[in-house]
Amino acid sequence: MPKTKFHFLLLFFFILFLGGGCRKAAPALDYSAVKTFTADSAAVVSPHPLATRVGVEVLKKGGNAVDAAVAVQFALAVVYPRAGNIGGGGFMVIRTAEGAVAALDYREKAPLGAHRDMYLDSLGNVIEGLSTMGHLAAGIPGTVAGLFEAHRKYGRIQDMKELIQPAIELAEKGFRLSSAEAERLNRFQEAFRKYNEEPNPFIKDSFRMGSLMVQEKLASTLKQIRDRGRAGFYEGPVAEAIVEEVQSGNGLITLEGLRSYEAKWREPVIGEYGNYRIISMPPSSSGGIALVQMLKMVEPYPLHEYGFHSTRAVHLMVEAERRAYADRAAHLGDSDFYDVPRDSLLSDAYLRARMGSFDAAQATASDSILAGNFNLLKESYETTHTSVVDASGNAVSVTTTLNSNYGCKVWVDGAGFFLNNEMDDFSAKPGVPNQFGLLGAEANAIQPGKRMLSSMTPTIVEKDGALFMVLGAPGGSTIITAVFQVFVNVAEFGMSLEEAVNAGRFHHQWLPNAILIEDNAFPDSTKQALEAMGHSFNIVGRMAVIKAIQRLPGGRLQGVGDPRNPDDDAGGY
Ligand code: GLY
Repeated sequence: MPKTKFHFLLLFFFILFLGGGCRKAAPALDYSAVKTFTADSAAVVSPHPLATRVGVEVLKKGGNAVDAAVAVQFALAVVYPRAGNIGGGGFMVIRTAEGAVAALDYREKAPLGAHRDMYLDSLGNVIEGLSTMGHLAAGIPGTVAGLFEAHRKYGRIQDMKELIQPAIELAEKGFRLSSAEAERLNRFQEAFRKYNEEPNPFIKDSFRMGSLMVQEKLASTLKQIRDRGRAGFYEGPVAEAIVEEVQSGNGLITLEGLRSYEAKWREPVIGEYGNYRIISMPPSSSGGIALVQMLKMVEPYPLHEYGFHSTRAVHLMVEAERRAYADRAAHLGDSDFYDVPRDSLLSDAYLRARMGSFDAAQATASDSILAGNFNLLKESYETTHTSVVDASGNAVSVTTTLNSNYGCKVWVDGAGFFLNNEMDDFSAKPGVPNQFGLLGAEANAIQPGKRMLSSMTPTIVEKDGALFMVLGAPGGSTIITAVFQVFVNVAEFGMSLEEAVNAGRFHHQWLPNAILIEDNAFPDSTKQALEAMGHSFNIVGRMAVIKAIQRLPGGRLQGVGDPRNPDDDAGGY
């Protein structure tokens, strides 16, 4: 080839490259997710590597597990906007190295102007979408109050500012989007444009892995919180921005509702299972009660002999799940407003009687337990969980959420964060399911200032009196059954924590009367045998996403993130 022609060709390809004719390489991420990490002293498992990194740094500089959990939550509000939050709420279960236990409820509350029929039309029918999308779907956020309260009572690092600063830097300097976050941001553009004004950092023609996400307004809000404590969120300019935003869309959150919000310490749910002790979350979450109910219902049966995913094991566990979720629908709600029969629901005699109708050869009809009729799950299960164990042996299990991906899709324009759509977790009308297909009744009816019933199940397990496991998950109604199955996989089926988390899962929530299973969760032979017993199946892509830590013999800690979320990350030292 003549030299001039060769140079011309080079020039042509160079121009093509500059003009975007060649696909530009995505900027490299300065993080990557580690699914299993074995630590000598302390471990953190969170849904995002940058948040895990923040938690590990806090632990290394002398913070305890509560300090680390608090710093991780603030970091997740920046780097995991689909569920990490300051506009939502959550639950924290704590076990100190000395064995003292505590449970903190910082679930959102219904606004003071809320009322039981607020999502019904003049004919008394539920108005589709009103409790899930837009300003009226938001409850009063609890996260900031909860994190300050947890730190006040248990924190070791004196100055809370040190725990918020890493989040401020991530918001101000920006961070590179993971592929999973970019995909979700693209998926929800239409809703973001419907409910929000531009400019807005979350509205763009296309997000890609590696896109830099800078959140200036969120950084300013976090500085208000850093400098003024919880008043930096619940009073002053941030509170005013929330109210202005919410009221622009006929939402109900007021300054008074924000100012009066308080997180609340609760007595954890405790249940014995053989030589294990389960410590979990009481109402306003259903998680702890339902988990312990399921475990107590299967305890009398030799699950380990039946074998993992054997027909007998799955049938037994499904029947326990069915009965626990039927109780959930009828009896559980915010115990500040409804007299939850907690002791009865957890009593050995009641649970034995509950399994009186169990037939080892036949599925129980759900409507022979309680009646109901409705559609299938509609939304993905976006919540987020973090497990932490520090070098002294203190453990924290914390689950927090906006409910759906990016909550109600409303971004507080004056303060830079998404609001939850947690009002959908109330029972808008008896017999009408929420987005997870869950039913509720009087116990979970809407009242001003009441907390909506949750399925979040932050849990800590002791074995022979010592710390054994910390676990929890996002996953809507499937959280409780995932925590149940991961624990049983380890305790009964002898799996390592990694095997237990990775194993396929199934879920029964009483209604709809079908077993949800992840694709290929178990062999066709098991499925066919269960169908012959009267069970039916619905296949879903994935269910709850566990983040867990197990204390290994000898004292090392194994942290495991779930492959179901590519960003789940385990770290430690
Ligand atoms: N928003 C899901 C739950 O709390 O269960």
